[in-house]
Amino acid sequence: MQSIKIFAHRGSKGTHPENTMAAFQKAAEIGAEGIEFDVHLSSDGELVIIHDETLDRTTSLTGYVKDHSAQMLKTADAGGKFSKKFLGEPIPFLTDVFDWARGNALLMNIEIKTDKLAYEGIEQKIIDAIRQYRMESRVVLSSFNHESIEKAKVLAPELERALLFEGLPDNFEEILSEKMESGFHPDKNSLTEAIAEAAKKLGYKIRPWVANDETDIIKLAKMDVDVIMTDFPEKAIKILKAWKATS
Ligand code: G3P
Ligand code: CA
Repeated sequence: MQSIKIFAHRGSKGTHPENTMAAFQKAAEIGAEGIEFDVHLSSDGELVIIHDETLDRTTSLTGYVKDHSAQMLKTADAGGKFSKKFLGEPIPFLTDVFDWARGNALLMNIEIKTDKLAYEGIEQKIIDAIRQYRMESRVVLSSFNHESIEKAKVLAPELERALLFEGLPDNFEEILSEKMESGFHPDKNSLTEAIAEAAKKLGYKIRPWVANDETDIIKLAKMDVDVIMTDFPEKAIKILKAWKATS
């Protein structure tokens, strides 16, 4: 059995405001191997770390991320809606995350959020930042929009890339063999033993999302996946450790 890594989904989303530095820092402190986060573009082309296309659910601002400048986005509070304890927590930019990542060894799953809006040139901008910060060996790019992953393959063949799925099409094996990427990121409910075996045979690393309870975490561990993405990395690490000790 390989060593299964824990990735903190949107940072430690279950206990901290998602996609903030506080959430990422928590993941580092409790010993997660990686973090997952989402990237959009501001109106002036800066790489913004936030999940939704709009600001309303998680921040003090409203409207589309794409309609706000980086300067404006920097005035937002991204913590107070989660808990008053996190009031003042800003929306991070990719450069903030990379600056911080210089001080640790965390792996990073960068989700390119082009499945709802087209962000012209976002793939190139992310790749430029990865290269500028020399983070090539620490990142995996993923997207529900497989065209973004194809673009990234052309722009930066050296980077690890992954195909994200929510639900699996009947021809998923055909897609995996045609695309020949290295990462398969299905939602946890779609992943079965047989599907995991098929993806492994094709050479894919399997990083399902998002398992938060013990039953799901152990189910995925038994499939010997590469990474488990979870909103509760501290709890997941304990569950995995206890399971390993008895199996
Ligand atoms: O990358 C896995 C997962 O984050 C995809 O779903 O909606 O949480 O971005 P979502
Ligand atoms: Ca995501």
